[in-house]
Amino acid sequence: MNEQVRAWVRAARHIAVLTGAGMSAESGVPTFRDAQTGLWAQFDPQQLATEDAFRANPSRVWEWYAFRREMIAKVEPNAGHRALAAFAQRHAGRLTLFTQNVDGLHQRAGSPGVLALHGNIAEDKWLDAPKKCCNASAAVAGSPPYCVRCGNMLRPDVVWFGEMLPVDILAAAEDAARECDLMLVVGTSGVVYPAAGLARTAAGKVVIVNPEPTDLDDAADAVLRGRAAQLLPILLEE
Ligand code: OAD
Repeated sequence: MNEQVRAWVRAARHIAVLTGAGMSAESGVPTFRDAQTGLWAQFDPQQLATEDAFRANPSRVWEWYAFRREMIAKVEPNAGHRALAAFAQRHAGRLTLFTQNVDGLHQRAGSPGVLALHGNIAEDKWLDAPKKCCNASAAVAGSPPYCVRCGNMLRPDVVWFGEMLPVDILAAAEDAARECDLMLVVGTSGVVYPAAGLARTAAGKVVIVNPEPTDLDDAADAVLRGRAAQLLPILLEE
C-alpha cells in the first residue's frame, strides 16, 4: 500500500494535507482524544476551551494555555513535519498544508504558507473588539494581561468550541481540497468540523495516516495504519 501511495504522490500535480494532533504526538505534544494520554481525558474542554469558560474564569483558562505554551516551546518538529516542509520546498506550489494544530511546529519545520485552521497558541488577541486604548504591547502584565484603561483582556489566538474558523484561511483550505489530486489526512480523529469536512470534499484520492481507526476512514482510498513521523518521510521521499 505504501508503494501505491508513493506512486500517487509522484503523479499528483497538487497535494493537500490536513493534519491534526497526532502529527505532533511524536514531538511530545499530547493529543486531545487518545484514551489515556489525550488532553480531553484529563481536562474538561467546556471549562477550558470556550469563550464562556474564559469569561467565567479568565485566569484558569489563561494559566492552562500558559502551561501548554511552555510545553510546546520545549519540543521540536519531528521527521514528519520535516518531510512535509522539505517536499513543499522542493516542489514550490505543489503542496498546500492545512492544520488543526495550534503548536506552530509545521511553521518551525519550514513549511511555507501553512493554513492554521484553529489559530496559533503562541499569539494573543483581544477578547472584545479593541478600542483605541487597547495596545497589546502596553497591556498590564497579569493572568491574563489586560488594558489598563478599559479592562479588555488578552486571550490566546486559537479557535475555541463554538467559534468560527478564520474565514479566509478556511476558504483557502476549501479551494485546495477541491483542486487537489491527492489529500493526505494525518493524525486526526476526524470528529471536529468543519476541518474534518475538508477530507470529504477532496477532489482527488484521500489517504489516511493514523495508527488508529478514524471517523474519516470511510472517505479514504487508502488507510495507512502507522505513525506520522515514520510514514511521511517514506511517502514523500523522491
Ligand atoms: P484528536 O486528539 O481528536 O485525534 C488525534 C489523532 O491522532 C487520533 O486519531 C490518534 O489515533 C492519532 N495519532 C496519535 N498518535 C499518532 C501518530 N504518532 N501519528 C499519526 N496519528 C497519530 O486530535 P484532532 O483530530 O487534531 O480543537 O482534534 C481536532 C481538534 O479537536 C483540535 O484541533 C482541537 C480539539 O478540540 C481546538 O483546539 C479548536
